Amino acid sequence: MEKKEKLYEGKAKVLYKTDNKDLLVQYFKDDTTAFDGAKKEVLEDKGVINCSISTAIFEYLEKNGIKTHFVERLSSREMLVKGCEIIPVEVVVRNIAAGSFSRRYGVKEGTPLKKPLVEYFYKSDELHDPMVCPNHVYLFEWATKEELEEMTNTALKVNELLKKFFDEIGIILVDFKLEFGRHNGEVILADEITPDSCRLWDKSSMEVLDKDRFRKDMGKVVESYKEIYKRIMERYEGMKE
Ligand code: TMP
Ligand code: ASP
Repeated sequence: MEKKEKLYEGKAKVLYKTDNKDLLVQYFKDDTTAFDGAKKEVLEDKGVINCSISTAIFEYLEKNGIKTHFVERLSSREMLVKGCEIIPVEVVVRNIAAGSFSRRYGVKEGTPLKKPLVEYFYKSDELHDPMVCPNHVYLFEWATKEELEEMTNTALKVNELLKKFFDEIGIILVDFKLEFGRHNGEVILADEITPDSCRLWDKSSMEVLDKDRFRKDMGKVVESYKEIYKRIMERYEGMKE
C-alpha cells in the first residue's frame, strides 16, 4: 500500500489517498482545538496517543460486532481506514449531564441521566455545530430515516460497549460524539474515538481525563490521555489473541 496525496485536512487529522481507491490513511496531528477552532494549541505527542487509543477502541468495537472504517494501524500516528462519505451529523450520547447539555437545560454537571440520551448536531464549524432534530436531518437530506435510525442504534450499542470498556479500567464514560460515513452502501462508524471526542472521568477521584482539561485550561492534557492509554494497555494487552 502506497500513501498518495492529501485528500482532506481537518482540525486534528489529515486524510491521504492511497494506491487502493477504497482505502485512506488517517493521520493524527498534535493540533488541539476547542470552540470550533477559536482556541488552538499544539500538544506534543497528542496525535500518537490518540492514534493508539482510537486503534484500541476500534479493535474492541469491531470484535464486538460494530462495523467501523478501521482497517489497521500503520505507524505511530497513522491508521488505514476505509474511505467513506461522511454524513454531516454528529451523534452525541450522554450518560451524565455535562458540557452543552448542562448549559442548555440547566442541569448540574455530574447529574446521572435516567437513561442514555442521544442528540444530533449538524457538523459545521461556521454555524458552530447547531443542535438539530431528526426532522432537520431528513429535510436537509443529510441522511435518510433508515440511516439515522441505524446511526442511533449503533451509537447506543457503542455506548453500552464503551461504558463497560472504560468501567473496567476505573473510568466513567460521561458522554461522547460519533461520526458515521457511507461505504459500499453501508453506514459505518468513522472518524476517531479519543479523549478529544469523549468525556472521561476517573471513577474514584472524579478527575477529568479528557479534552475538557484543554477547553478549561486545567493543564496536564496529554498526561491525562497517556494515563487513559496506560490503563487500556494494562487491561487489554494481555487479552489479545
Ligand atoms: P458538548 O457537551 O460540548 O455538546 O459535547 C458532547 C460530547 O461531544 C463531548 O464528549 C465532547 C464531544 N464533542 C466533540 O467531539 N466535538 C465537538 O465539536 C464538541 C462540541 C463536542
Ligand atoms: N472539536 C471542536 C473544535 O475543535 C470543539 C470542541 O471539541 O470543543 O473546535
